[in-house]
Amino acid sequence: MKQLHDDLWTADSPLRFMRLELGARMTVVRLPESELLLISPIKAELSLVGETQSHGEVAHLVAPNRMHHLFIGEWKEAFPDATLYVAPSLEKKRADLEIDVVMTNSPEAAWADVVDQQLMEGFPFINEVAFFHRPSATLIIHDLAFNIGEHSPLLTRTSFRMMGAYGRLAVTPLERVLIRDKAAFRRSLEAVLEWPFERIVLAHGTVVEQDARAAFERAYAWLLG
Ligand SMILES: [Fe+2]
Repeated sequence: MKQLHDDLWTADSPLRFMRLELGARMTVVRLPESELLLISPIKAELSLVGETQSHGEVAHLVAPNRMHHLFIGEWKEAFPDATLYVAPSLEKKRADLEIDVVMTNSPEAAWADVVDQQLMEGFPFINEVAFFHRPSATLIIHDLAFNIGEHSPLLTRTSFRMMGAYGRLAVTPLERVLIRDKAAFRRSLEAVLEWPFERIVLAHGTVVEQDARAAFERAYAWLLG
């Protein structure tokens, strides 16, 4: 795991989507009282579970959108007392999971003191909930943008080049098509932009540590105007 702040870690794993190696990243936030919030858990390898536990008590498991739910069941099995939260409508797609909470636009009481959240409206295929970890000024997103660069394999780099989405924080043409209600999505984006974030942790690609706000605004310039 990589530590980004006293109470913030990430862990990466390989992951293929539509034959492209995109990788996946889990975010771990340590809440006051040492409870851990795991957002978009990756495969629950024994070593990762052990390392995670060394930072606190695994108490909250979050599937942040309709795509990022593949490994959350493994963590629930390992930590049956943890509370399981999902993005809206994932409860229908994953009826097999023991879901405790379908998230809304307001942060859950368990993390509201340090983490804010925003449901991205108008993007029903993904229905992502974006998060903001206040103590580290970090925006946490999953499929809202990619940051594919030199660390990705050749086929992934080439594909993203062809889509005009290489070497920077970018939204792919496929995602653009999936945004069904642009006005509603834009209002959600504007709410995200009210958070004073200085870093972007995302699921696919390199974490943005420099000029994060400008990078995010550039990625969505086609929508924000
Ligand atoms: Fe994803």
